[in-house]
Amino acid sequence: MVMTVRDLDPGVTAFLAGGAKQLLIGGRWQEAASGKTFATHNPATGEELARVAEGDREDIDRAVRAARQAFDAGPWPAMTAAERSQVLWKLADLIEERAEVFAQLETLDNGKPITAARRDDVGGTVDYFRYFAGWPTKVEGATIPISVPNTFAYTLRQPVGVCGQIIPWNYPLMMAAWKLAPALAVGCTVVLKPAEQTPLSALYLGQTCLDAGIPEGVVNVVTGYGDTAGAALAEHMDVDKVAFTGSTEIGRTILRASSISNLKKVSLELGGKSPNIVFADADLDLAREGAAAGIFYNMGQDCTAGSRVFVEAPVYDDVAQYIADHAKKLKLGPGLDEGTEIGPLVSQEQLDRVVGYLNLGPQEGARVLSGGARATEPELQSGYFVRPTVFASARNEMRIAQEEIFGPVVSVIPFRDVEDVIAQGNAVAYGLGAGVWTNNLQKAHRVAAGLKAGTVWVNTYGGTDPALPFGGFKQSGHGREMGSEAIHLYTEVKSVLINLGEN
Ligand code: NAI
Ligand code: MG
Repeated sequence: MVMTVRDLDPGVTAFLAGGAKQLLIGGRWQEAASGKTFATHNPATGEELARVAEGDREDIDRAVRAARQAFDAGPWPAMTAAERSQVLWKLADLIEERAEVFAQLETLDNGKPITAARRDDVGGTVDYFRYFAGWPTKVEGATIPISVPNTFAYTLRQPVGVCGQIIPWNYPLMMAAWKLAPALAVGCTVVLKPAEQTPLSALYLGQTCLDAGIPEGVVNVVTGYGDTAGAALAEHMDVDKVAFTGSTEIGRTILRASSISNLKKVSLELGGKSPNIVFADADLDLAREGAAAGIFYNMGQDCTAGSRVFVEAPVYDDVAQYIADHAKKLKLGPGLDEGTEIGPLVSQEQLDRVVGYLNLGPQEGARVLSGGARATEPELQSGYFVRPTVFASARNEMRIAQEEIFGPVVSVIPFRDVEDVIAQGNAVAYGLGAGVWTNNLQKAHRVAAGLKAGTVWVNTYGGTDPALPFGGFKQSGHGREMGSEAIHLYTEVKSVLINLGEN
């Protein structure tokens, strides 16, 4: 059932052959200073997929020095805006040419269905680089009418400098793109630290950056663990900014690392426990479908997963049952099978975490309408598969409704009216996304205004766009990625005052 190497794109086979993957530092592929490597696994089978250099403090230091050199003396920030734009466009073209290799690597390393990897992860990455390829020529300052006599003032927007970027495993390639594209567009240089569970597509992207003509030292990729390589990057005295996507817990660690080192700028995109709200007056076919897709997409390993579905009392049973029936029909299997809708979770650790919540739900008094356990099919035993799970009779106070599970697990919670659902929706530590399903315009606007969330979807769920700001209220993070907000994240504003003289 599992596709074998025989079926893989020759580009993937070539990439995986020939020993441990190396670090990209200063335009050269090299071993970790310690010589150590670690394994990355195929979550569909549990088998080792490749060995990868285990970067640590010394490698981070070398990479930061390369990025510093490239920033201070290299051609990248000095290039004209139009030239940088062309290189980023070329990069997008190359990713598109190599799309199948990227998609298969992503599915092998992360487990996700190949159809989603092709369309969303790789397609989205190409779109993202193309959007930011347009930005270098549009980064503007302002002329400002100050009241100091005989003085002319303007602002410049300049690249913040050397950026450390630490990314998670749920969308490995796309997270690399979200971080790299705006930083590169404004002329920053980067040390990228991929998640230890899914390092492969970022390494392949590193090579693709070189092939596109991004000068050496501008993009450095150091694979390794979080508490070693990641921590060294967050604490480094010569890194100007760290951008992080991952858990709220490590978000705190990153802020602490900044505060005890050089007060580097920090942007954080952290977890979520997003409410997806279905009013009785909604187009129920659309709403039920959207509620199911909102949680089961990417096996629920999504920071905006609609993991709390609030349903107005009169349609509660109908909507909960629909999502459960939908869950039972989803096809589980290895991501490389074209028919697969639900792949494995990313790792044994994530499987253990999710199974812990599957056991907790009934203990807290929730009713299992579908799933509730690991998959039992013999061919899925060695992979990290769980059944899509619907907990009914859930209450917002339960841990299953308060804590980010990051698996295909949804709590369906009843509500009475607009005030009640805004209060319940906001009664959580997070504030990343939210959905509202209603045909009543007033309700839609009131709920959209009342929910503390960085993105609110009305009669749709989960879509993002490179031009649209994305990020979180409350403990879901600091700052906004995408669009002009991302340009602001990677630039410093400089005010310049010029004495115009007396005559
Ligand atoms: P994590 O936050 O530990 O990992 C994310 C990244 O941070 C990885 O690259 C990791 O190597 C790095 N990291 C870990 N410790 C670090 C440290 N001390 N200093 C610097 N970097 C460090 O997340 P993990 O353990 O993989 O997943 C745990 C939970 O986090 C998930 O169940 C989910 O709830 C949440 N999560 C949220 C994500 C999001 O998109 N917002 C993505 C991944 C996980
Ligand atoms: Mg892996």
